[in-house]
Amino acid sequence: CDPEMGTQEFNQPHRPIQLLELRAHGRFGEVWKANMLDAVVAVKIMPFKEKASWLAEQEIYNLPHMKHDNILLFVGGEKHEENLWLITEFHEKGSLCDFLKGNSVTWSQLCKIAESMVRGLAYLHDDVSLTRCQSKPAVAHRDFKSKNVLLKEDLTACIADFGLALKFEPGKSPGETHGLVGTRRYMAPEILEGAISFRKDAFLRIDMYACGLVLWELLSRNSCSDQPADEYQLPFEEEAGSHPTLEDMQELVVMKKLRPTIKNHWLQHPGLEQVAATIEECWDQDAEARVSAICVQERLSQLSRTLNV
Ligand code: ADE
Repeated sequence: CDPEMGTQEFNQPHRPIQLLELRAHGRFGEVWKANMLDAVVAVKIMPFKEKASWLAEQEIYNLPHMKHDNILLFVGGEKHEENLWLITEFHEKGSLCDFLKGNSVTWSQLCKIAESMVRGLAYLHDDVSLTRCQSKPAVAHRDFKSKNVLLKEDLTACIADFGLALKFEPGKSPGETHGLVGTRRYMAPEILEGAISFRKDAFLRIDMYACGLVLWELLSRNSCSDQPADEYQLPFEEEAGSHPTLEDMQELVVMKKLRPTIKNHWLQHPGLEQVAATIEECWDQDAEARVSAICVQERLSQLSRTLNV
């Protein structure tokens, strides 16, 4: 049960890593493609002032049973002179957001991405109880978005970036936190209103709202209805532009109760119609009415089995 296992706290030698190429900018720093001996890895480089987030992210990765096909594989953390490194598996395709900018998706690709992504989220949300020391607590991501979903070569997804995640150990409080965290455009109405309860279920439902928006992004890039896919846009980009303020999001999501548009022609496809219905249950205004990740996972796997076209 060592939360800092894999974290390099003392002056241990660094892993033999050669940075190759800057691949992404995140809120907490840069992500580089790198070589580690014969392996290709990703290195997230964070400034020292982000130490809390660097430690928090490793604490989540180091929880028991966090190795899962649909959760980004963690290699380790290192302290360097100038900054802090977080080393993980590298995925050449990058984030789902980047992928959707350049590609539309067929029905079978959509199913594969959606199902594997939601499988990862359902696993994260689940508590796997074995012995006390070997239990994986339920974890809420709190910054679920298409930039934090990575795509592997076979187009299955894995969830990344646990810098804001919260774990819920039975009988313990999740610790000091405040409600207004995450990315504005993905914030659920109850966060924008400042009206959340600090209970596990409330945090998991907030992830499910964001998951609905990511599923909408996938649907918006489908190439299986009878009209060409729309150009990629982030959720609410049409309504609120590229840099929405908190007030913009409050007006759209809380006051007007708007959601991204589900196009009529998508609904002509029997599979897309069912995915769209599930999306609406993910982003319900009433948090308690939202579907759980495991329920979405089961629906998607049933759908892809029965509508394997
Ligand atoms: N962008 C952010 N993290 C990444 C990773 N592990 N692999 C590829 N691109 C990324």
